[in-house]
Amino acid sequence: MFMRIKKCQFLQLISMCCVFSVLMVCWEDVDHHVVSHMRSYSYRYFINSYNFLNKSFSVSREEAKSFSRFPYLINHKNVCKGSEVLLILCVKSSPENFKRRQDIRATWGNETYIDRELGVSVKVIFVMGVHHDHHTRDEIQKKLVREDRIFGDLVQQNFLDTFHNLTLKLLLQFHWVHSNCANAQFVMSADDDIFIHMPNLVHYLQERSRQQVRDFWVGHVHRGSPPIRRKDSKYYMPFDMYQWSSYPDYTAGAAYVVSKDVAAKVYHATLTLNASIYIDDVFMGICGNAMGVSPQEHVYFSGEGKTVYHPCIYEKMMTSHGHDKDIRYLWKVATDPNVKGISSGLLGKLYCTAVKVTLLCKPYNVNSYPCRAAFS
Ligand SMILES: *[C@@H]1O[C@H](CO)[C@@H](O)[C@H](O)[C@H]1NC(C)=O
Ligand SMILES: *[C@@H]1O[C@H](CO)[C@@H](O)[C@H](O)[C@H]1NC(C)=O
Ligand SMILES: *[C@@H]1O[C@H](CO)[C@@H](O)[C@H](O)[C@H]1NC(C)=O
Ligand SMILES: *[C@@H]1O[C@H](CO)[C@@H](O)[C@H](O)[C@H]1NC(C)=O
Repeated sequence: MFMRIKKCQFLQLISMCCVFSVLMVCWEDVDHHVVSHMRSYSYRYFINSYNFLNKSFSVSREEAKSFSRFPYLINHKNVCKGSEVLLILCVKSSPENFKRRQDIRATWGNETYIDRELGVSVKVIFVMGVHHDHHTRDEIQKKLVREDRIFGDLVQQNFLDTFHNLTLKLLLQFHWVHSNCANAQFVMSADDDIFIHMPNLVHYLQERSRQQVRDFWVGHVHRGSPPIRRKDSKYYMPFDMYQWSSYPDYTAGAAYVVSKDVAAKVYHATLTLNASIYIDDVFMGICGNAMGVSPQEHVYFSGEGKTVYHPCIYEKMMTSHGHDKDIRYLWKVATDPNVKGISSGLLGKLYCTAVKVTLLCKPYNVNSYPCRAAFS
């Protein structure tokens, strides 16, 4: 009798396992995305520390140096000399993006405007490699030199400016800042199709700077993100480059800010880490892990997402991603004097909260700020 129950249970267990594994396999086919997210979340919450990464990505100083061996073709060493810089803003640009740089200089990256209207010193540089196509490279390079003669804000190193070289661009930023702008209170890295609400950002950073923040790293945080193993994805990660089922926490590369002590730590981390992992924001996460600094979420920093267009949002927003054509328009409406204080008073507050709830708290709101931004 006893044996029979055991046998029965055993069979049950086996068949359950069979059903389960069949389900797992099918499920994985049906929705790989959900499974890998579930797996990576649980991984993150069970492991909860990525100490092994430091060891796994450590290389000798000579080997680490080889990743930042590229000479400067265009450089400016005196950008930060002689003034108290609140923020050095490194815009990740590409040689051919002339128009985007012009739009930025005329809007949120206008140093004269920031100085006059906001009363602080913010420095903007555009960082890049060389154009990837050797047929047009010389011509584009000449145009770049001309552009730089007028504006003096380009910093270029001699590596190919491609998506898979973005980590080299990250090294460029932190190494350049370390040599030429180590005294800026904050360092920001941003894409050239980003919109930054500069008055809001400056206000926020001034407050933080008064509190003498340390270990400050803020942006749109990815927690427990899974490496993407589909070969057709832009973010494909080969197994031998990253073996684990989730990345350490990192901020979206679209735009993030660190305090100067963190910038110095990142610089030092890059001197001992293998920088061949080509997703730059993940590499930043690995640096953060090595330094023991973790990123903080700010609901009005966007990752992939674009802002919704409304004064109640403009009043709070920091960054918004994916702006190619409408940077000038958005700058105009978002910094309109009537926006400021729109949510002041009880009525204003009620009105704006209601508006933001209707705009942000939708079931499929994946491309903007999260619902909880409505209440902050
Ligand atoms: C930058 O702002 C200043 C002051 O507001 C303005 O005079 C200047 O035209 C702006 N620059 C550009 C390129 O728009
Ligand atoms: C990165 O830049 C280096 C130096 O120019 C180049 O040799 C390499 O092919 C580039 N890598 C990619 C993936 O574009
Ligand atoms: C750095 O990582 C790459 C990819 O994982 C690997 O091929 C390479 O050997 C590593 N370099 C060193 C010096 O360990
Ligand atoms: C990572 O390794 C470096 C040297 O290899 C060490 O200085 C640092 O303290 C390590 N970080 C952590 C969080 O263990």
